[in-house]
Amino acid sequence: MSQPYLSATGMRGGYGKADILNGCDLTVEKGQIAVIVGPNGAGKSTAMKAVFGMLNLREGAVLLDGADITALTPQERVRKGMGFVPQTHNIFPTMTVEENLEMGAFIRQDDFRATMEQVYQLFPAVAEKRRQNAGELSGGQRQQVAVGRALMTRPSLLMLDEPTAGVSPIVMDELFDRIIEVARTGISILMVEQNARQALEIADIGYVLVQGANAYTDTGPALLADPEVRRTFLGG
Ligand SMILES: Nc1ncnc2c1ncn2[C@@H]1O[C@H](COP(=O)(O)OP(=O)(O)OP(=O)(O)O)[C@@H](O)[C@H]1O
Ligand SMILES: [Mg+2]
Repeated sequence: MSQPYLSATGMRGGYGKADILNGCDLTVEKGQIAVIVGPNGAGKSTAMKAVFGMLNLREGAVLLDGADITALTPQERVRKGMGFVPQTHNIFPTMTVEENLEMGAFIRQDDFRATMEQVYQLFPAVAEKRRQNAGELSGGQRQQVAVGRALMTRPSLLMLDEPTAGVSPIVMDELFDRIIEVARTGISILMVEQNARQALEIADIGYVLVQGANAYTDTGPALLADPEVRRTFLGG
């Protein structure tokens, strides 16, 4: 097997003295979709922050395309190809949709209009509202703006923390379809999801995180078929 595009191994760390991550491992292959599920407070968002460099690890390493990036800041990781959509505060509500996308392109010196057009093609509903303040959009459209904002740096790894939080089932399906479309262009996806069943259906690899450690790791379909995983984490 080829070397994974993202490889985070043995991550330990947290906020202050208490460790939230207790030896968590996450890998994503090129162009594949990795999904993290698990109970509230399991450390899913903390693991994403650690991969993105927003949390100092006490132990462990993060490798992107074979390069050790453990010591890099989030901004440096963006330059290396990471895009991150946090769970909360992931748009600028009082700025227009277009301004949000421009903010997303902050590290780019070149002409990013073609990327912006690609984002609008991916999310046509958002394109129609490009002059409106992002805060006026529906929940699903705000999430599309957030994903679009992260795509503006043309990441090779797109990290999404609960992209379908608070949206209807139809909007969730639609968003998952768009995420699959992004992955098909060769972008690796690392995604945390509360809608565990639906997310695991599209997962090349799934992680069940419990108390900051990997409880189960397998392909999405295998996790969905695992009686223990179903009973404990998927409601039967
Ligand atoms: N900034 C912070 N300072 C201190 N503790 C925090 C902070 N953020 C999270 N925690 C704690 O770390 C633990 C893991 O939180 P985290 O947000 O990573 O969980 P999660 O799996 O993403 O949960 P959820 O499903 O609710 O999003 C929780 O006990 C939480 O209270
Ligand atoms: Mg979270």
